[in-house]
Amino acid sequence: MQNQTSGKSSDQGGSATERFSSSGFILTAIGSAVGLGNMWKFPYITGKYGGAAFFLLFIICLLVVGLPVLLAELAIGRGGRGNASTSFIRLSKSKYWGGFGFLSIFGAFMILSFYSVVAGWTIHYAIISFSNVLFQDADYTHRFTSFAASGMPVLWQVAVMAITGAVVAKGVSGGIEKFNKILIPGMLVLLIVLIVRSVTLPGAMAGVEFFLKPDFSKLTTESVLVALGHAFFSLSLGMGTMLTYGSYVERRQSLGQAAAAVGAGDLLYALIAGLIIFPTSFAFGIEPSQGAGLVFMALPAAFSAMPLGGVFGGLFFILLAIAALTSTVSLLEVPVAYAMDKWRLSRNKAALWTTVLCCIVGVPSALSVGGAFSGFTIAGKSFFDFVDFVASNIILPVGGLIVTIFTGYVWKKAGEEAGLTNGMFKLWMFVIRYIAPVLVILIFLYSSGIISGGEYGK
Ligand code: TRP
Repeated sequence: MQNQTSGKSSDQGGSATERFSSSGFILTAIGSAVGLGNMWKFPYITGKYGGAAFFLLFIICLLVVGLPVLLAELAIGRGGRGNASTSFIRLSKSKYWGGFGFLSIFGAFMILSFYSVVAGWTIHYAIISFSNVLFQDADYTHRFTSFAASGMPVLWQVAVMAITGAVVAKGVSGGIEKFNKILIPGMLVLLIVLIVRSVTLPGAMAGVEFFLKPDFSKLTTESVLVALGHAFFSLSLGMGTMLTYGSYVERRQSLGQAAAAVGAGDLLYALIAGLIIFPTSFAFGIEPSQGAGLVFMALPAAFSAMPLGGVFGGLFFILLAIAALTSTVSLLEVPVAYAMDKWRLSRNKAALWTTVLCCIVGVPSALSVGGAFSGFTIAGKSFFDFVDFVASNIILPVGGLIVTIFTGYVWKKAGEEAGLTNGMFKLWMFVIRYIAPVLVILIFLYSSGIISGGEYGK
């Protein structure tokens, strides 16, 4: 496409004709970035890989590699004005690249299939916390495992997907943007209530210190790679999400500023999540390094011991559910945009079919954490872990690599689309060409288990 930066002509040429409003776009992109990654994964990997020193590493990775790749994804989307596959084809005029793009669409769908399961857990936990059922038996590990072993997670996953599908069906500005415009500020209110509660608990300061006072001796090479991988996951990179959102952005929007705002928003929510979870854990003697169960198995003990704990616990899990839903919406939009273009489906039909398909693919994940499918393993992993592994540790870094190589070496007009000043452009190209691909390959080698350490975040 020759006219990609000349305003109208490319707007008409592309298939993505819907548009975000300017403020709506930034909030919506923050909604995609802020999710279970910030509220569930970030605290436990920070606990495990070095506390404050890890947090600092994460910030560096976010700024140095995350933001340039985010800008590249947004630019490809807006330049190509298509879905995560056709945008590549339009900008390179080569079908090849469409195949690479398709890989990320498949990845987004896979992430959604298990991410919606965890989102379902959060809704269940919000309800049982408000009703105090959560606190009837102090064995929270048993409560979680028996819930996971029942059929209930399937129902909650379907509920999450139904909400997600309904929002996406309503369109870009009338559905996705509106949903985020209400929920993202709503989340901030919940966060403030919870932060005030957590830092005023007796003994909370030890948690604040753990989270904010770095001890560099705790860092390992592994920490660096985990921080990098998480910066990608947290900014929703490598899976066509930001690319698809980029295709709905107005020409006059500065993509550099948008990327900076999304990075800042993502960081802010990670900071706040840490300030809720670490002080609460330390105040009640809970080890923050205990892994994925931190939020569902350890924190309930803390809520049970504080006055009005059911309410605070309920609000906390609602916060998680909201964060998750604004991300599931962004993940579903990726295959929906593709299906609308590819098979000329209406938005309603595309949303319906992808939602149904995702529910079906999600069933084994929902039942594999102790449930009926737990005996079924692929390559030694439960179905849930296998899908997570392939999507987050293989497809995501490969998708990130495709974006950097495409922007750095294939798409000649990337600079015009990104609209940076000369100095910033040079810096951006330097990172995109030489730094980001090397680091992404390292994350890939590490997280796929090819170099020691194995998968991150588990
Ligand atoms: N970034 C979201 C989170 O932190 C999850 C997410 C949404 C995502 N879209 C993505 C992760 C695309 C990887 C790729 O929870």
